[in-house]
Amino acid sequence: SAAPLATIASLAQHEGQTVTLRGWLYNLRESGKLLFPIFRDGTGTIQGIVPKAAVPEEVFTTIKNLTQESSVVVTGKVRADKRAPSGFELDVENIEVIHRIPEETPFPISLKEHGVDFLMEHRHLWIRTPRQSAILRIRATIMRAAQEYFDTNGFIRTDPPILTPNACEGTSELFEMDYFDQEKAYLTQSGQLYIEATALALGKVYSFGPTFRAEKSKTRRHLTEFWMIEPEVAYLDLDGLMELAENFVSHIVKRVLEGHQADLKVLQRDVAKLEAIQAPFPKISYDEAHAMLEEAYKQGAIEHPHTYGDDFGSPDETYISSQFDRPVMVHRYPAAVKAFYMEPDPKDPTKALCLDVLAPEGYGEIIGGSQRVSSYELLKSRIEAHNLPLEAFQWYLDLRKYGSVPHSGYGMGIERVVAWVCGLDHVRETIPFARTLNRIYP
Ligand code: 4AD
Ligand code: MG
Repeated sequence: SAAPLATIASLAQHEGQTVTLRGWLYNLRESGKLLFPIFRDGTGTIQGIVPKAAVPEEVFTTIKNLTQESSVVVTGKVRADKRAPSGFELDVENIEVIHRIPEETPFPISLKEHGVDFLMEHRHLWIRTPRQSAILRIRATIMRAAQEYFDTNGFIRTDPPILTPNACEGTSELFEMDYFDQEKAYLTQSGQLYIEATALALGKVYSFGPTFRAEKSKTRRHLTEFWMIEPEVAYLDLDGLMELAENFVSHIVKRVLEGHQADLKVLQRDVAKLEAIQAPFPKISYDEAHAMLEEAYKQGAIEHPHTYGDDFGSPDETYISSQFDRPVMVHRYPAAVKAFYMEPDPKDPTKALCLDVLAPEGYGEIIGGSQRVSSYELLKSRIEAHNLPLEAFQWYLDLRKYGSVPHSGYGMGIERVVAWVCGLDHVRETIPFARTLNRIYP
């Protein structure tokens, strides 16, 4: 057809024109002599109107007999309609069927409710549905905005290795593999140790890539493979790190709001809650957070008391984060529950100069970070105290041997942020193909 190609997301530029869309049939309703096919093309969905009297007989019968997810090239006139989710409807003029799915082998994901196991088993098809597509589009923007923030603020991207000889975040969650005949290798849990090296070379750096943890727990927040973006900055202290984190997170949310109103509507996300996400964020110490939990327990707002000195569990984080309308930064946890590389607070060395950023609405931790130990002697004794192999960390110790400086960084899990921004119950919907304890298919 001669009509110009368009995408559903760009139809505002084509109001009143006849355009060609290339996509799939998402749904079809019929009402007497009217057909209402809904088309999708990866950028959105649009309802078509096909009155029997207005189109050639053959076009009407073709659409009437179309099956869900058959691929089609459709031509029609774009008409504004305030009631339509996309703001437009399509007066269909012509249709070309590229691949018609036979009735005998229908698309497995019907429009009725399916159980989560069934949907995960058919994830390769589930991602075609409007909600899942909206999530994946927002995920792409979150990743782009995160990189953009660092790229435009003087950070150099340095990619750490994925195959590593040592642990970063504790040895219990390592995926181990043979590295030829000589030794073991592990899939990286975090690029941090390596970008500490590149930060001392380049000043301000970041890494962005997949990370792996053999998480044995089944929770709404844990994947075994997830994407982490990590900045690391020489001469930065904990206060500076908190400022970086709040500006960074605000920027990401802003970009989603700018570009994804239609997707957020599909997700029925309360946009006002996202509009509130502006720096500065509230900052409370571990001690203050503990006091909040004590009070909450007294009042029956949480089920289990929090033991002073312990890390926060998911229900604790959920409670703390639900007390604020923007992400809350919890700093200075007990050093004993945190990683070996965290700098102790000079005012109270039992505490670490660290931060966790907890997202609002009960989403819990999205960022973990700290100032790093800068003394060679202290770091060496920490490595030994954690029973980590000193040989594997020799290079990491070198960073404290040659021009050591205070430096800080954090890691943000993309999937946790997508879950929060999209308002999802579970991280399994935040990544195209989730990897969890019980699932590695498809
Ligand atoms: O708090 P974590 O373990 O911190 C680190 O790995 C540091 N080395 C980062 C750094 O300082 N450069 O993990 C950082 C973030 C968490 O806040 C969370 O968002 C995400 O990574 N994360 C996970 N996301 C999904 N599934 C999991 N199993 C995750 N574990 C951590
Ligand atoms: Mg953490």
